[in-house]
Amino acid sequence: MIVPSLSRQDVAVLREDTPGVSQLVHFNNAGTGLALKPSLNAVKEHLDLEARIGGYEAAAAAKARMDEFYTALAALLGCQPYEIAYVENATRAWDMAFYGIDFREGDRIVTGRAEYVSNYVAFLQMKQRKGIEIDIVEDDACGQIDLRGLQSAIGAKTRLVALTHIPTFSGLINPAEEVGEIARTAGVLYLLDACQSAGQIPLNVNDIGCHMLSGTGRKYLRGPRGTGFLYVNDAVLDQIDPPFIDLQSANWIDEATYELVPHARRFETWERYVAGQIGLGAAVSYAIGFGMERIGNRICGLGAQLRSELSGHSEIALHDKGARKGGIVSFTYSNEPASQTKARLAEAAVNVSVSQASSAQIDLSHRGLSSVVRASLHAFNTEEEIELFVKALVK
Ligand SMILES: Cc1ncc(COP(=O)(O)O)c(C=O)c1O
Repeated sequence: MIVPSLSRQDVAVLREDTPGVSQLVHFNNAGTGLALKPSLNAVKEHLDLEARIGGYEAAAAAKARMDEFYTALAALLGCQPYEIAYVENATRAWDMAFYGIDFREGDRIVTGRAEYVSNYVAFLQMKQRKGIEIDIVEDDACGQIDLRGLQSAIGAKTRLVALTHIPTFSGLINPAEEVGEIARTAGVLYLLDACQSAGQIPLNVNDIGCHMLSGTGRKYLRGPRGTGFLYVNDAVLDQIDPPFIDLQSANWIDEATYELVPHARRFETWERYVAGQIGLGAAVSYAIGFGMERIGNRICGLGAQLRSELSGHSEIALHDKGARKGGIVSFTYSNEPASQTKARLAEAAVNVSVSQASSAQIDLSHRGLSSVVRASLHAFNTEEEIELFVKALVK
């Protein structure tokens, strides 16, 4: 089968629409994707409109553009627009789902070693508050969540399977669909952290089988900072009570009564970064225009190329695991501290970031790594930039 990827011409268009590429090599897309002109312009235009006619008036005038956020996200995830909530970042989106579950003492959460730091500390808080237990499923021989281990970890007390699809600190792509099949068979809630996978690889909530999925705007989707989203399947709405409500998420019926609004909008707040919502809608539509399968194939291909180049240097140790890997490449350079490698690359106008073990206590610490350099590639990056990167890295 021929794997569809982006053409040279597509990449030229992507770069034309990414002003920052003329200044530097941006391999920090897992931090923030480099700004995208159509999204940036949409944000600027709306801010200008707010300044000219007033914020509420601008929101009313931009209703169709605000609605595009829901239709674009629904197209990206293969769900209905009403199953999407606009939230200010991925963490709060995830929180709205997690803290909405009425955990009881003795309930168990099953998760993997890739779980994001903020999610894990929330598990610990819930353990302290309610007396729940956390079951960590070991990695399999390839380094992804062990599916047999997952199956046997799920028991009568399991309330939630929480999985991070792509960790913040490595190239691993966890088998989200297979995990969904196991959760479905067991009849357990499944919450997927898709913060790094949204915009990096194709996602379809029906294929994955997750009940809830959280994501951010600013990373692989290349939307504005301070934006995020939550998908909640209607079928589980009665099991998740929004931890906070306001006049957007609930109607005040009379002095003694309120009623949650239908669907996922009950996880939203009324006040919001409207320009950000419009900008994220524009960024998602832009990605869909190129096709997520083609974008995903290019990103994974560039990640594989960088890993292959780095593997030819004995002073470089690669730390990515998993049967399937994406565009995040984690490594250490000789005995050099990761922060120093990052600083050296910054001098050559190359952006990377550092993942600390303190944010990956059940993975990097577990592997005896104190920190790793994270180079995260996007579809607008090029083979030439990879060559440049390796030259700047190798002393
Ligand atoms: C896997 C993962 N989940 C969640 C988050 C949190 O996203 P946000 O900063 O938008 O809350 C991140 C951010 O790096 C992440 O990598």
